[in-house]
Amino acid sequence: MRIILLGPPGAGKGTQAQFICEALGVPQISTGDMLREAVRMGTPEGRRAENIIAAGELVPDELIVRMVKWRVAGPDCRAGFLLDGVPRTLGQAEALEREGIEVDCIVEIVIADDEIIRRLSGRRVHPASGRSYHVEFNPPRLADKDDVTGEALVQRDDDRSEVAAKRLAVYHDRTAPLVAHYCEVAGRSAARYVKVNGARGIEAVREDILRALQA
Ligand code: AP5
Repeated sequence: MRIILLGPPGAGKGTQAQFICEALGVPQISTGDMLREAVRMGTPEGRRAENIIAAGELVPDELIVRMVKWRVAGPDCRAGFLLDGVPRTLGQAEALEREGIEVDCIVEIVIADDEIIRRLSGRRVHPASGRSYHVEFNPPRLADKDDVTGEALVQRDDDRSEVAAKRLAVYHDRTAPLVAHYCEVAGRSAARYVKVNGARGIEAVREDILRALQA
């Protein structure tokens, strides 16, 4: 099963990706996580992306497509994969299609802008694993500590309110057109397009997505 998880920042893509990957046994490919890791490691890609991420802008398509192409060629992707937060522009989507990277299902998580701001402002993450929590909606067992390692949780720099607002604007401008694109792809191919109401509890969203994927 090859899946794209589409939705605005803070929609719950990373949260749901973990459930989907566990249920289907496919790897999660999150370009956000890959880029943050590259920044931490100080690689050339990380140095190129650092200021762009901090400003809430999108990293150039060519860099993203190269990363995804390399990652999906991995042996663990032979039985499928989940693309979390990628593609994010029409240019990325078309480039991946040209590379022969096709998908079976596109899952869009739909949620209103005001709810997104609440989610981003309360998010805390475990940088090493990418696990994410919310101070109110999905708190860790011990305040500010990762459930698995006990290490400290942090707030992402790009979750600060002015950058979060910029990311949301960029989503509407550059990524939202992918909804029409993938509806059209689903209309002319065997791929399925599934819309899920993301404005409910984590469990309810999870059940909807898994039911749709396993249908
Ligand atoms: P990335 O890390 O991908 O950020 P994003 O798409 O903005 O997504 P988020 O990680 O913010 O949100 P999410 O949907 O995963 O939500 P989560 O599950 O954490 O990208 C970061 C940056 O990298 C980009 O801005 C860009 O610069 C660059 N980049 C990455 N990919 C790129 C690409 N393809 N092209 C170009 N540039 C790229 O949930 C959010 C919070 O809500 C959490 O606290 C969670 O606990 C809580 N929550 C989740 N679900 C629920 C629920 N149902 N109810 C209540 N709370 C919930």
